[in-house]
Amino acid sequence: MIEHVETFAGTRDLQRARGGSIGLVPTLGFLHEGHSALIQRARSECDVVTVSVFVNPLQFGEGEDLDRYPRDIERDSTIAAAAGADLVFAPALTEMFPVAPVTTVSLEALTDTLTGKSRPGHFAGVATIVTKLFAGLQPDRAYFGRKDAQQLAVVTRLASDLSFPVRVVGCPIIREADGLAMSSRNTYLNDLERRAATSLSRGLMAAADAVERGTLDAETLEAIAYDAMSSEHLVEPEYAELHDAHSVVHLNTVDRDSFLAVAGRLGETRLIDNVHFDVTDEGIVIDRGIRSQQTESGQS
Ligand code: PAF
Repeated sequence: MIEHVETFAGTRDLQRARGGSIGLVPTLGFLHEGHSALIQRARSECDVVTVSVFVNPLQFGEGEDLDRYPRDIERDSTIAAAAGADLVFAPALTEMFPVAPVTTVSLEALTDTLTGKSRPGHFAGVATIVTKLFAGLQPDRAYFGRKDAQQLAVVTRLASDLSFPVRVVGCPIIREADGLAMSSRNTYLNDLERRAATSLSRGLMAAADAVERGTLDAETLEAIAYDAMSSEHLVEPEYAELHDAHSVVHLNTVDRDSFLAVAGRLGETRLIDNVHFDVTDEGIVIDRGIRSQQTESGQS
């Protein structure tokens, strides 16, 4: 039976009582199959699996979707339990922030580009809350999706810079059957937008095919991904760019671990997606994500 706890101290006590290594899956809630995959991975590698559910106001900018972000803790607890979690840590705003915080964790060198450019302050909000989760829950391993590749780089770097004894584990993107990367924000899309949204992954898969055929030049790959988004009149492309997976600097060619990232707006909804290129001695391993075997849920 999953336990639902609202305080850091209560969660820590339960984690200790259960003993062994602690895996943390941090979320904003409204869990989908992508989160379930993270929880299952944590379950297979850790003794205790805690899922945090907190809609973090620090990472939402003025005019963004903080108020309408979907919330359903009962549904989240059911999904988390089914995927193998032991505990759901769902703090109230007053537990997280008994007083308004004046401390901010920011990684400017990694966040002045891509999403960091169009959502100023977003990654400082993410880094600050993740720091609090690492400090308050003391996980041995923490699981993040590769869908937000810039976030993964930020969290990995903050754990190292601030000496948290946690291993940050990046996990493949989980996609709907038609390729759309799963996201809680997909619920905002109407039917026409939902169909047009597949252009983000379509362009990325075409670029990944080009890499497989030997095209490593960023300009060419970026154009393939950008043009796929532009071909849909409902999509307003924001960027298609190749970046270093660790430092997040823009690259001219796929010559190290990197990701080709896209962002586009469909009406009020901003979506992101990417493919990862892991450069090994044997060649380039492309992580395109994993397509769900289930029929399209339309939600997620
Ligand atoms: O990716 C998310 O869901 C959030 O940014 C995170 C990591 C839970 C921090 O609020």
